[in-house]
Amino acid sequence: MSALLSCTDLTMRFGGLTALDKLNLDVAKGDVLGLVGPNGSGKTTFFNVVTGIYRPSAGTVVFDGQDVTSRTAQEIYRLGIARTFQRSRLCLDLTVFDNVMIGNHKNLDMGIVHNLLARGRFRAECKRNLERVKTLLHGLNPALVKRVGQPVSMLSMIDRRRVEVCRALVSDPVLLFLDEPSAGMTHDETKRLMDEILVLSDGGKNFTVVLIEHEMEVIRRVTNRCVVLNFGRKLCEGDYETVTADPFVKEAYLGTELD
Ligand SMILES: Nc1ncnc2c1ncn2[C@@H]1O[C@H](COP(=O)(O)OP(=O)(O)OP(=O)(O)O)[C@@H](O)[C@H]1O
Ligand SMILES: [Mg+2]
Repeated sequence: MSALLSCTDLTMRFGGLTALDKLNLDVAKGDVLGLVGPNGSGKTTFFNVVTGIYRPSAGTVVFDGQDVTSRTAQEIYRLGIARTFQRSRLCLDLTVFDNVMIGNHKNLDMGIVHNLLARGRFRAECKRNLERVKTLLHGLNPALVKRVGQPVSMLSMIDRRRVEVCRALVSDPVLLFLDEPSAGMTHDETKRLMDEILVLSDGGKNFTVVLIEHEMEVIRRVTNRCVVLNFGRKLCEGDYETVTADPFVKEAYLGTELD
């Protein structure tokens, strides 16, 4: 099996702190991989390094057969890795449409001169984009479609999260990183959002997901494989049952959340 994403000896140091420590982690095409571990174990740093926000101190990242270790965030996004952020990055005063379209900039490079001169094509493109955003919103919550022109500040927390997921999806990613999409949501809302994302990923989109999530019930329901990090190292990996059977994992990190 050749991995879609393959990280070898990935290391990220911040001064004296080693956030990722020779991490070897593969993601296969079609995986819904759960990335779990205690606070500060390096989960978000892993996303930041793979997506080019930080350049790793050592190690390599290979995506879809290409070494992307030294690529910029923009280049990696263009190659097909999209993400959501642990802390919301919505522009609250902008509309739902605008917030989603921020994620589509790789397809919006016609430039101002072109847009001024080719008014007809520009209008057609705007219409196409609006339909596309509505389709994505509909996939997560049909009620959001008619709110496409409203500012995001008027939406509930779960709808804001949906908008963030749509912003990642609008670029048609090959690989989707979700960093604690459930943050700030209730138990039921979290389950609903995950189900919606899974339906989208099954619906012929066929993308691969890495999900950082503290809620182990969500991990159990939606992932086919988990990797547990601790101090930037891989503590164990396998399916949910394998990982949660690990006595160290169970006691140290998951104990209170399992029955
Ligand atoms: N830009 C940075 N500068 C310095 N230290 C950082 C930076 N980013 C992360 N760290 C440190 O790296 C370690 C790993 O952080 P990271 O955010 O990856 O953890 P996490 O597993 O996502 O935790 P959480 O579950 O709380 O989100 C932490 O000790 C954190 O303080
Ligand atoms: Mg984090």
